Amino acid sequence: MIDTVKTKVTKEKKENDLMLNTFKSDVKQGLEANPKTLSSKYFYNEVGDALFVEIMNLPEYYLTRSELDIFQNKTEDLINALQLNPESYFELIELGAGDGLKTKKLLNVLDAKNFKFDYFPIDISGNALNLLEKDLKEVLPSVSVKTKQGDYFKVLASLKNSNKPKVILFLGSNIGNMNDVVAAEFIYNLGANLKPGDKLLLGVDLIKSTDIVLPAYNDNKGITAKFNLNLLKRINEELGANFNIDNFKHEPEYNENDGIAKSFITSTINQTVEVKAIGTAYKFAKGEKIHTEISRKYNDALIKKIIANTDFTLETKILDSKGYFADYMLSRH
Ligand code: AVI
Repeated sequence: MIDTVKTKVTKEKKENDLMLNTFKSDVKQGLEANPKTLSSKYFYNEVGDALFVEIMNLPEYYLTRSELDIFQNKTEDLINALQLNPESYFELIELGAGDGLKTKKLLNVLDAKNFKFDYFPIDISGNALNLLEKDLKEVLPSVSVKTKQGDYFKVLASLKNSNKPKVILFLGSNIGNMNDVVAAEFIYNLGANLKPGDKLLLGVDLIKSTDIVLPAYNDNKGITAKFNLNLLKRINEELGANFNIDNFKHEPEYNENDGIAKSFITSTINQTVEVKAIGTAYKFAKGEKIHTEISRKYNDALIKKIIANTDFTLETKILDSKGYFADYMLSRH
């Protein structure tokens, strides 16, 4: 028993060391690039997770409400689009389930109509999964929930052999944080873990005018600014850097023509920042930008282009009442 605990602790330590090393080399590579970049995947530490929850509740951040509108008011359309049948069992797998707010609306109807399924929420964060599991036990006790912590593809690979029909949910326009080439690879790799007839529900934000999109990334309360700048704090804490957050500012951009929102951190003075773990000092000129995130917006043509070299066929899409957001149903061929 003690040995098992020890092995677990050693394994966790190894994983943490590996993650820290990857973080260090990614930061080094990003700060040595021209222009400088830092990956948005590092936004999500404990503070970042909490800030993202705040973002989702902001009046300017329409994305969550729009997709919730679909899950709440077009649940029947979703069930029809996914070609779900109350008689035949399927596995409902959600990538990055978070608090499950939207999915609960779907689970509720599936449960009420006696559909036969297991719900597999997958998340990197064990804490998020525990909270979700506890919540679902209370509000939907008859739904079978099988939480899976870890890397999406490792978990999917472990589920592949079950040969059970699968429906994957990838919601919240999370795909939009990847560039189009990476997004296509990601979807291709999802398909590689599925069988013909399996489904993917892909929730994406749609291209729309700057006056709607830009405030979503530049809210009045400055929560998104905190979220972006938290990346520098994280580098301070985990890599022994001395970024003075007051000398940097959050600067988002949105180009309505290509539908890409970008977030930057701009240096407000000429300065040098030391990152101890890397053993290097980095110079920032006044006005110099670090690119931290893309949040791509889509239309049918872009989605078709992205899935063109994957094993998915675009079947249908469901829009929210304002036409801001779409859930595309893709079928593995
Ligand atoms: C998680 N992701 C889809 C969010 C987005 O809209 O790109 C992250 C975010 N960044 C700033 N605000 C929200």
